[in-house]
Amino acid sequence: MITPLHGYDHPSPSVRLHTSVSAVVVGGTPYGVPMAGAIVAEGLRKNFGTVEALRGIDLDVASGTVFGFLGPNGAGKTTAVRIFTTLLLPSGGRAEVVGLDVVRDAEALRARIGLAGQSAAVDENLTGLENIQMVGRLYHLSATEARRRAGEILERFGLAEAADRQAKTYSGGMRRRLDVAASLVARPDVLFLDEPTTGLDPRSRMDLWAMIRELVQEGKTILLTTQYLEEADNLADRIAVVDLGTIIAEGTSDELKDQIGGEVLELHVKDPAQIGQVAQALSGVGIGEPSIDQEAGKIRIPVGSDGPAALLDSVRRIDDMKLALEDIALHRPTLDDVFLSLTGHAAEEEQEEQASSGRRKRGQRRGRRRDT
Ligand SMILES: Nc1ncnc2c1ncn2[C@@H]1O[C@H](COP(=O)(O)OP(=O)(O)O)[C@@H](O)[C@H]1O
Ligand SMILES: [Mg+2]
Repeated sequence: MITPLHGYDHPSPSVRLHTSVSAVVVGGTPYGVPMAGAIVAEGLRKNFGTVEALRGIDLDVASGTVFGFLGPNGAGKTTAVRIFTTLLLPSGGRAEVVGLDVVRDAEALRARIGLAGQSAAVDENLTGLENIQMVGRLYHLSATEARRRAGEILERFGLAEAADRQAKTYSGGMRRRLDVAASLVARPDVLFLDEPTTGLDPRSRMDLWAMIRELVQEGKTILLTTQYLEEADNLADRIAVVDLGTIIAEGTSDELKDQIGGEVLELHVKDPAQIGQVAQALSGVGIGEPSIDQEAGKIRIPVGSDGPAALLDSVRRIDDMKLALEDIALHRPTLDDVFLSLTGHAAEEEQEEQASSGRRKRGQRRGRRRDT
């Protein structure tokens, strides 16, 4: 299940409270150790009038990895991407991509990066082939070279058959793929993909994920913004959880999940009358107090990173005592749990997805108007 984060347009006061939480860096590279950061930011800030879109973010993305910039609407994701891709000047701090400063070396940097923006920058009236050729020409490729590259790229990403059709006949998923494909024309080392799968159906999302994985395999560095927890979980080597212009946590998906307590063992007893006995039998299993839900006949025990051992131990003890279980399972916290624990506001309910994607679209339109 894909769960979008809470899609608010205007942060509520309760959300605002949590921006004072300082970033928690888990398992990161120790400061001071030089690394080949393909994308680096230090104290990066951006104000739009009184709006603090970025409040000082630090990033260090290693070459050849996917970095997930995960956060709800209004978090500052697009602002960061626009600064990294030289489309917007920072108000403070600094940023470098492939060792080039985004302000001082903007011109040189543009030739080294690819961007697929939040709204696919596809020209509807051109064919797929013409769209990519056009981008190639913008990157100063010769007409022949642009055509050759365009053909190659379309072939590679399963768009060859549609190459000579106008983009307006493409499905949403095909358009996004075309847009990402176009960002590859100049063979950039670093790609910025701003919410590449927002609004796509699950099948198209999977296709795009496959495309992204392929690009990483060939050594590209990708910064991917997303509102989808599952997307970050699936694609990103490291994830920064961002909320209201601040990175509130950073680490691998596993590190982020461990940070909120590792796994939980959940047991469902067959006979609720035996729940006390079962709990007693399990005394000492796990790393924390079991919580008992008498009515549901359920016991939850935090087990840290020792899940499988705790599970085996529990089964043995219960068997020895001749007690019966309906079900026993290990649960890994989800990124949902992580986000909730870090920000105090939950990821969105699935049934609200429809409404929220409407809110997102309106928010994006407003954002575009302001930009122009
Ligand atoms: N051009 C702009 N003018 C004024 N405010 C802006 C502009 N662009 C973005 N913002 C504001 O900055 C904040 C971050 O926006 P954005 O980077 O688009 O977030 P995200 O991409 O994570 O949804 C929001 O509060 C948004 O309204
Ligand atoms: Mg955005």
